[in-house]
Amino acid sequence: MPETITASSAGIDPLSAVTHPDPYPYYRELAATRPFFREPRLGLWVAAGPREVAAVLAHPDCRVRPLAQPVPPALAGTAAADLFGRLIRMNDGPAHAPLKALLMPMLAAVDPGVAAQRIAAIARMMDTGEDAHAAMPAASVNRWLFALPVVAVAAVLGLPVARDRGTAVEVAQQVAAFAAAQSPLADADTVRAGAEAARWLDTWLASSLASSVAADGPLPALQRAAQAAGIEGQAVAANIIGLLVQACEATAGLAGNTLLWLGRNPSAGDMPLQGVVARAAQDDPPVQNTRRFLAADTELCGQAVKAGDTVLVLLAAASCSGLADDARAWTFGHGRHACPGDRLAQALATATVAALRARGADPDALARAFRYRPSLNARIPHFL
Ligand code: HEM
Repeated sequence: MPETITASSAGIDPLSAVTHPDPYPYYRELAATRPFFREPRLGLWVAAGPREVAAVLAHPDCRVRPLAQPVPPALAGTAAADLFGRLIRMNDGPAHAPLKALLMPMLAAVDPGVAAQRIAAIARMMDTGEDAHAAMPAASVNRWLFALPVVAVAAVLGLPVARDRGTAVEVAQQVAAFAAAQSPLADADTVRAGAEAARWLDTWLASSLASSVAADGPLPALQRAAQAAGIEGQAVAANIIGLLVQACEATAGLAGNTLLWLGRNPSAGDMPLQGVVARAAQDDPPVQNTRRFLAADTELCGQAVKAGDTVLVLLAAASCSGLADDARAWTFGHGRHACPGDRLAQALATATVAALRARGADPDALARAFRYRPSLNARIPHFL
């Protein structure tokens, strides 16, 4: 069948869609007409239909990293590589199952309501008192989006971030620097900054865990259980930092996209904020795709695929397609690697948007001047 280029799909591809002003007509078209296909120009298989997305995420030969490349080559040999290589998010297989079995219930036990209260308290701590009555400038909105959720996750884990503004800001900056270095778009300076951030976070976490400051949270119990299960301390530490990283960009994106949604739908101002966040998560998700790497020659969605092939999994296309048998949300993934932080993330985004609006952030003005941060998978607004 010849490929038809419609107005909605002209000049857009599955990677540029992530930061396109309105990729959803294109995604819907892909899901309906090309639910699983090879994109030769990008050198990727693309899964767009909900059935195909589910099949890829469930397939035993579809791994979260290429077999021969457990760490992105740009990070190789740096402190960031050591940290990255230990993350359960980036690993399949039995070596990481015991730690995952401890981390998941720990996260599930975090009360999202308590995390939201932490955001309100951290926001009060971060107030500088300047411009208390003025509309919040876009640069401050950007900074707060990247700080509040991360600092709140650190605080609910019992880490010492909520006492002074300086530590909170520093931890948030280091986590953001480490997260940025993981992007395939990262340049040499960003990778260098990420490696330094990884070293800083390692040292900070080790000293926090060694003193009794973290004793109030769930971390001492996690460390004891990990030790009893023979899991090395470095793996536990890397994954605690990993939780802060997971909370960083995606939650900033969800809160930012919620502000945009409010700006574009002024009548939604009366809706409960939690509902608006859920709507933004579904309709304009911050994580638009994820990748899987074939570990063996096999058949996938009726096609012969080869070991080493990459599949771009368009979660956002499955989400907006209207083709799923059930109304499953794809924003937080599905199956073996599904996000364990989904409820927490929505509570954090809700509380972050509430804190920003209480300080004069104006969704209407923000939605008039923004661009998306360069990314191949995350849709995160940067307000201008
Ligand atoms: C709006 C915010 C968030 C979004 C949209 C999001 C989305 C996702 C998605 C799509 C995945 C699956 C990736 C894949 O299958 O390749 C994932 C995995 C994960 N997320 Fe989230 N996430 C968010 C926030 C969080 C938070 C706040 C935490 C924890 C504090 C978290 C922890 C994790 C972990 C540990 C994994 C890896 C699970 C595994 O590999 O078994 N996420 N997330």
